[in-house]
Amino acid sequence: MGSARIAVIGTGYVGLTTGACLASLGHQVTCVDVDAAKVARLAVGQVDILEPGLEELVSRGLSTGRLSFVVGSRDAVADAEGVFLCVPTPMGAGGAADLRAVEAVIDEVADVLPAGCSVITKSTVPVGTAQRIRDLLGRTDIPVVANPEFLREGTAVSDFLNPDRIVVGADDQDAARWVADLYTDLSAPSVVTDAASAELVKYAANCFLAMKLSYVNAVAELCERLGADIASVTEGMGYDRRIGRSFLKPGPGWGGSCLPKDTHALVQVAESVGFDFSLLSAAIQENIAQRDRIVAKIAGAVGGTLAGARIGVLGLAFKAGTNDLRDSPALSVTAMLAAHGAEVTAYDPAVGGELPGMRVVDDPYQVAKAADAIVVLTEWDEFRKLDWAYIADIMHGDSVVDTRNLLDPTAIMDAGLCWLGLGRPRAGQSLQSTGFARQG
Ligand code: UDX
Repeated sequence: MGSARIAVIGTGYVGLTTGACLASLGHQVTCVDVDAAKVARLAVGQVDILEPGLEELVSRGLSTGRLSFVVGSRDAVADAEGVFLCVPTPMGAGGAADLRAVEAVIDEVADVLPAGCSVITKSTVPVGTAQRIRDLLGRTDIPVVANPEFLREGTAVSDFLNPDRIVVGADDQDAARWVADLYTDLSAPSVVTDAASAELVKYAANCFLAMKLSYVNAVAELCERLGADIASVTEGMGYDRRIGRSFLKPGPGWGGSCLPKDTHALVQVAESVGFDFSLLSAAIQENIAQRDRIVAKIAGAVGGTLAGARIGVLGLAFKAGTNDLRDSPALSVTAMLAAHGAEVTAYDPAVGGELPGMRVVDDPYQVAKAADAIVVLTEWDEFRKLDWAYIADIMHGDSVVDTRNLLDPTAIMDAGLCWLGLGRPRAGQSLQSTGFARQG
């Protein structure tokens, strides 16, 4: 296809990535946001979110004239051939997705959408949303297409431009194919289907990933109790092509802006049609239990009681490469530590400012000063390069609880400290070093 005229509503990490990447594929894109100050910054190429490659793509789009930013949706959609909805769909009451932002946009643009223009859902929306949008629009000349994103924060641009697959669903198959064709320059298989199936692909995929992680975290716990090493266990599992090597790293629990809300939403959706998705509910429970186990491990590392213990935390973001604190397991763990009376000092290379229940510092060595234990909660590479001998000197205690199995246990041990990972023998007990554990 040649160049299409596209409006993208919402300039969060999904919307902005979608807009900038579609412009880079040659389409004419207008991005819309309700936040006028943000639009003004974007219009001069200033990107607030930490997303590698995004600022460059936005600048290029602005200079080629293929990308522009405006405040009002009505003007932006007036001559569009496709309108992407990239507004937030947060977790609402009872765990179901809150669609108010989507509904507000539809309400705003319904009467100005040109005939034949496709309305395309990009943010994760519950199964049945395409139908709901059709009902709200009340127009038979506007096809509604589900085209879920599979973008990970921190690699969104590269995920968009090198996708594993493009999924498009609509009852109007011509409209679905038109949307699939927007991506023809990307070499990826497309699944063109009905709207409900496309909507469900996104939930089914994200919930599968969440279950995989809960499973790995539970197996890591089993490793500790049985004296096995999760690094070897996941290496052995990962070579099985049916399982795959990715998403097999244990951690303090899965978090972020997607997996927690999507798992709750799918449990709700299932319930609404009379199905008890107990498998998924168990994965959610396991994720809560994982945080409890991490806190118990930290308590054990400081002699059993957290009250008055000084805990130095490395990492607050829900994963490395982002400054996103939404549903970050690190925040749940630090809140639990504080609730047990621990004094928490935390450092994250991408997070500053004030946070409740802790002192946030801007130097990793400050968290170590007089700490009874150090806890790694986000897998930032720079933590691997810290000077552990110096840390051993300035610490009060000697435990390093590495909930991401990130650090080199030998380096910690050589500094005279005790390394405690997840599902791995303590440093000093016949630890096998497997490269896989680090790449995983
Ligand atoms: C996720 C999906 O991957 C993406 O397809 C979807 O569009 C949005 O949600 P994201 O939220 O950016 O992306 O995070 P992701 O990289 O998937 O990680 C999710 C959570 O799992 C994080 O808390 C991460 O630390 C954790 N994780 C991931 C592990 O604990 N171990 C792993 O091996 C992988």
